[in-house]
Amino acid sequence: MTENQSPDKKKIILSGIQPTGVFTLGNYIGAVRNWGKLQDDYQCAYFIANAHAITVRQDATKLRQQTLQALALLLACGVDPQKSLVFIQSHVPAHFELSWVLSCFTQFGELSRMTQFKDKSAKNADNINAGLFTYPALMAADILLYHADLVPVGVDQKQHLELARNVASRFNGLYGDTFTIPDAYIPQVGAKIMSLSEPTKKMSKSDENQNGCIYILDDPDTLMRKFKRAVTDSDACVRYADGKDGINNLMTIYSIATGRTLEQIEAEFSGKGYGDFKLAVGESVVEMLREVRESYTRLIADKAYLEDVYKSGAEKARTISARTLSKVYRKVGFLQ
Ligand code: TYM
Repeated sequence: MTENQSPDKKKIILSGIQPTGVFTLGNYIGAVRNWGKLQDDYQCAYFIANAHAITVRQDATKLRQQTLQALALLLACGVDPQKSLVFIQSHVPAHFELSWVLSCFTQFGELSRMTQFKDKSAKNADNINAGLFTYPALMAADILLYHADLVPVGVDQKQHLELARNVASRFNGLYGDTFTIPDAYIPQVGAKIMSLSEPTKKMSKSDENQNGCIYILDDPDTLMRKFKRAVTDSDACVRYADGKDGINNLMTIYSIATGRTLEQIEAEFSGKGYGDFKLAVGESVVEMLREVRESYTRLIADKAYLEDVYKSGAEKARTISARTLSKVYRKVGFLQ
């Protein structure tokens, strides 16, 4: 994960997720589900972005619990700490240190254009703090410290990634080759899972209507109830088409859960009603998440193991990131 460190020259993958509650089906399909699959072909680093989480007010006790929960969820979703570097962001001070340097190479205008900043400031009008604004500089530091080639994320993170690329190129332009320029790695299907109750909006933990949001630890009855209530349209035909946001979203989810193509799904439900279709989608998701739920229950009960994972992850991450940071400090002229 340092330059040229890998003898087999595997490309480096890095991604993170905020510990702000149980992962949603959007987090799972758009990001985390894919992370485990990349571990054999790439050198992977995955982390819990707890420093990003405090850009919105959090309860301290709950944040601690949710951080451990997020770690257990990550492992339950297939990330293997024997294969990947797994750590918690706040355990690695270089993220904050590089973030400061990078924020001096990030323009006010660039940050002002971030749609997530605009959305989150509208939702948290009483707490539009500087961290919320400079969040993309911290995210750039997360990525650039590890020389990531690819960053597997859902489509909502694409703009932040473009900013990280711009900042890295700007820095390299001024000081010579320092950072690898990362590419977003966005899945072709499922990069933006929509709310089940308002299918023109992204599925999100902060959804006002909780029926629209599937959590990956929802029990089978809850999952089925939410899918049965999913908003569709009056066309009564299972086909993927413009303007059929609810059905398109359900077809995407079903396609991921069963491995079937959109054409196969259209054929399977030709002549059948939405009721049958929604039941089938619900059942496929229950099946897809069964193992995650079971592994999570095992993992969250084993606090000693989780502690081992994050402690050894922190140690490795500190070593790798300190090397990049020291190079950056030298380049910008900090006396060593
Ligand atoms: P976060 O915690 O909001 O989301 C984690 C991942 O889930 C994806 N995602 C979705 N994908 C498809 N459909 C949805 N409805 C959906 N909702 C969320 C997100 O795109 C993301 O990939 N800033 C990041 C965390 C982060 C990070 C990083 C990621 C911090 N530093 C460095 C990559 C690299 C975030 O808040 O993700």
